Amino acid sequence: MRKRLTISSLQKMKQDRNAISVLTAYDYPSAKLAEEAGIDVILVGDSLGNVVLGYETTIPVTIEDMIYHSRVVARAATNTFIVTDMPFMTYGASREATLLNAAKIMQQGGAQAVKLEGGAEIAADVEALVQAGIPVMGHIGVTPQSVHQLGGYKVQGRSEKDAQRLMDDALALEKAGAFSIVIELVTESLGTAISEALTIPTIGIGAGRSCDGQVLVYHDLLQYSSPYFEKRFVKSYADIGTTIRQAIESYVSEVKEGIFPAENNVFEAQTASPKSLYGVGANHSSAGAVKTNVPSNAPKGVPIA
Ligand code: KIV
Repeated sequence: MRKRLTISSLQKMKQDRNAISVLTAYDYPSAKLAEEAGIDVILVGDSLGNVVLGYETTIPVTIEDMIYHSRVVARAATNTFIVTDMPFMTYGASREATLLNAAKIMQQGGAQAVKLEGGAEIAADVEALVQAGIPVMGHIGVTPQSVHQLGGYKVQGRSEKDAQRLMDDALALEKAGAFSIVIELVTESLGTAISEALTIPTIGIGAGRSCDGQVLVYHDLLQYSSPYFEKRFVKSYADIGTTIRQAIESYVSEVKEGIFPAENNVFEAQTASPKSLYGVGANHSSAGAVKTNVPSNAPKGVPIA
């Protein structure tokens, strides 16, 4: 198992042109699998609002949601650099609240860094966090917490003026001390220009091929949703949604047809007669309980023979 990356090793990856792979994760098995697969950075994104909690936007996601999911991910991915999103309105309103909320994410959520959406307007907050010793990842382009202000999830930076605004935002975040910046849904030429202008690594999602790294949402990479909507900037590497649905359909029909449980899924009593186990006239409230030889305090994962 390799060691957890650091902000300086991520910086070096940019210098060495070693592309950085980032994936979101929100729970124990997804974080474990991502780490085992060799992902460089796990992002506990507030996209969990959409893909895990069933909200239409990321706006309802709370700091408690982020801390909860971050802590679970940190328990699983002990050797991976974890960045956790600061959710809507937990930064920017007051300097004190920004610092306290970031501290909660680091202390209670076990993250190694926080991510904030926004450009020059949040640079002073980023600077305060960095001065307090908290590594900050920026996020520009489409910033889903501002979806209503942006008027939808539309590609940004198409006009010269908008491209210049985003370039200025990126430079302001770098100057404020951000160690990396996510660039979401911008033209490829702008993704390239920003990546070349910055010394810190850029992580693209729908920002073209020249970013220093790429990030995808776990549920998009695996088509782990129903229904799954294809997106131009995403590549899915599996269709887990269909696999899961088919597996559950098989389970349902096997239960209904009496195929499951089968002989190898049941337990034999050591005594010939169940009566000697429960006694005649005994309280039958526990009669359905499965009796095994496994002690109740046995560690989890012990196979039940
Ligand atoms: O919340 C998230 O998952 C993100 C990524 C899409 C970059 O911010």
